[in-house]
Amino acid sequence: MSESGTWVTVAARSAIAEGEVTGVSVGEEQIALYNLGGALFATSNICTHAFALLSDGWLDGDVIECPLHAGRFEVKTGKGLGPPIPCDIKTFPVRVVGDAVQVQLGG
Ligand code: FES
Repeated sequence: MSESGTWVTVAARSAIAEGEVTGVSVGEEQIALYNLGGALFATSNICTHAFALLSDGWLDGDVIECPLHAGRFEVKTGKGLGPPIPCDIKTFPVRVVGDAVQVQLGG
């Protein structure tokens, strides 16, 4: 985890219910925010296989399934779980400050 990135507020904490995934845009970055049992995680929202938004997919425990070809990624690590995914997905550090969800970008 890099210490050099910038923390950016991307959503209200109350906007992401448990077991849900939400897509947000920050500048040119598309980010998916996940609430796994009250803990928040963030990955790129764009599948590494083709262009699909993971926030349109299905969250199954701590795995997100892409809506286009059913590729799956581990939310916590970004690890791709096999074909058709060619590589893992980028993850971002997340923190909560008051009711603000912040993601560290550019690290
Ligand atoms: S675009 Fe996500 S699995 Fe193909």
